[in-house]
Amino acid sequence: MQINDMIPGPINENSVNDLKIWFNKYVDSFRDDDPEIQQNLNLKIAHTERVCREIKHLGKELELEANALHLAEIIALLHDIGRFEQYAVYKTFKDSKSENHALLGLRIIKKNKLLNIFDPNTRKIIVHAIKYHNRATLPSDGKDPFLFYDKLIRDADKLDIWHVVLNYYYRTDSQRNSAIELDLPDTPSVSKHILDDLHHGRIIHFEHVNNLNDFKLLQMGWIFDINFEPTRKVISERDYLKKLRRVLPASSEIDIIYENIIYKLRQVGGLKQK
Ligand SMILES: [Fe+2]
Repeated sequence: MQINDMIPGPINENSVNDLKIWFNKYVDSFRDDDPEIQQNLNLKIAHTERVCREIKHLGKELELEANALHLAEIIALLHDIGRFEQYAVYKTFKDSKSENHALLGLRIIKKNKLLNIFDPNTRKIIVHAIKYHNRATLPSDGKDPFLFYDKLIRDADKLDIWHVVLNYYYRTDSQRNSAIELDLPDTPSVSKHILDDLHHGRIIHFEHVNNLNDFKLLQMGWIFDINFEPTRKVISERDYLKKLRRVLPASSEIDIIYENIIYKLRQVGGLKQK
């Protein structure tokens, strides 16, 4: 099956623009006088804009046609729509301390009837991609054609989260942001369970993350969940993994894991390709 065959119906470019207008109005309704709150909302607005750019770049590299690119952009625009209400209500981006932001986003999309203009299959693809964008792994045998967009948003999202967290780890002031650190302590240890998972090329589950080092290793381990060659290329060009290694403790065990990951990253098709 051709990638382009998965597009169920035509998507008018105007509907993408209308959704962008809605998005801007919607996020503006959360505007807050507290600079810390506004800073964290801005973080998600800017993240969404960049994920839209990332997904379009990946889509073009994958030679998607215009319709498919519109669909991809809509998914990117709406994938984190739950983040704004989540932060307004709970003052955290930690799903385990609040609620699943993907499911919250889907409720917001439904309440605002955002997808009513699309045909049923397009709606299904968008809902599926948003629902699964934040799962540790995709719960399927990989045969479902709808999974193409799940994979695309997961890659685009990761590309920008690496950008956000690395900017944060390399910040020049020592200001800490608990919304990015997800309230994790900055202690020197590294969890054995996490190292074992990385040794075996397994995705790390957030419940095993005990501190900021574990969180950085979880972000390193996302490399095992990259779906497309153009994503691998971007990761390589931006040196994301090297930058992550440099903010982790000196440890021969982490060195071995890192070298192994870099070796796989350098080989075309060396990472798990689904
Ligand atoms: Fe995201």
